[in-house]
Amino acid sequence: MKAYIDRLERTRDLTDAEFRALLEESAPADRDYLFARARAVRDRTYGRRVFIRGLIEFTNFCKNDCRYCGIRRSNPCAQRYRLDKAQILACCQAGYELGFRTFVLQGGEDPYFTDDRMADIVSAIRASFPDCAITLSIGERSRASYERLFAAGANRYLLRHETADPDHYARLHPPELSLENRLRCLRDLKAIGFQTGAGFMVGSPGQTSGCLVQDFRLLQDLQPQMVGIGPFLPHRDTPFRDEPAGSAERTLLCLAIVRLLLPRALLPATTALGTLADDGRERGMNAGCNVVMPNLSPKDTRKKYLLYDNKRSDGDEAAEGLAALRARMAAAGYEVVVDRGDYPME
Ligand code: 5AD
Repeated sequence: MKAYIDRLERTRDLTDAEFRALLEESAPADRDYLFARARAVRDRTYGRRVFIRGLIEFTNFCKNDCRYCGIRRSNPCAQRYRLDKAQILACCQAGYELGFRTFVLQGGEDPYFTDDRMADIVSAIRASFPDCAITLSIGERSRASYERLFAAGANRYLLRHETADPDHYARLHPPELSLENRLRCLRDLKAIGFQTGAGFMVGSPGQTSGCLVQDFRLLQDLQPQMVGIGPFLPHRDTPFRDEPAGSAERTLLCLAIVRLLLPRALLPATTALGTLADDGRERGMNAGCNVVMPNLSPKDTRKKYLLYDNKRSDGDEAAEGLAALRARMAAAGYEVVVDRGDYPME
């Protein structure tokens, strides 16, 4: 297995069977070696610096009906909310004072936020916080829409592909959504000049090792600047309520493999990983991550942005818990920095 890991680091590639063996047959000692190589590769570009992103969950209205997601349109239990421009700017201001230099505006696919409204919000943030990166995570839109948001001042865009296997995609999503359009969006975003994030859940219902190998292949092909990877966690008001959660171990394995595939990628230790395991953030760093995304949303809305059961938004998942996060990261040998944390140039 060690030979596979060394070759993965050197060539950023393995055969399908070798990737599967790494996922299915690696012993604890192999994993430790993989994690050590992932840390070394990360350290070469970033050292032990950890970038923070202030996550502003500004709407939980969604026109989509993804089977895994707690804010899917057909969940009548979700208490819907939207933040207005003034509230969003107030979140950014609070975040700036705490040391955040990236704001991530994430929301369901909410038709209220037309291109006019989104461009207006992005321009206002851009004018007030010229030294900050603006990341959008608002789903599938037209190329023209993405171009407009980029022109308004957005720099980055997160759009997880969720799974690169078309049949698996169809199992997770309603028929009106397709992997093809998701990939069209990702390619448009990259071509426009956004630092682009793809990604997937680990352990979503029906996912096989073969699906994950396809995810790795997609990442090799797309070369995104960011990759969001977290465990699937069931939500009680979704069709997947009785499905088992993904495992932390397998999530960490995927993170470390992706670090070797994309050495300079920005890789968050996700909230889902922090929800599944108390020490998820630290274990993420140990597997090659270099980003955390604490919650900057107003306190009363956090509990409503429930993508899965028990989603954490307290303690060091919260922006006000930054001191605690810094301390935890320092104890693990990492330094949380005040920095935009852009993808490095050549
Ligand atoms: N478990 C884990 N992650 C989820 N997401 C949505 N629902 C769940 C869930 N039940 C993830 C998706 C989405 C991101 C914003 O949250 O991957 O892209």
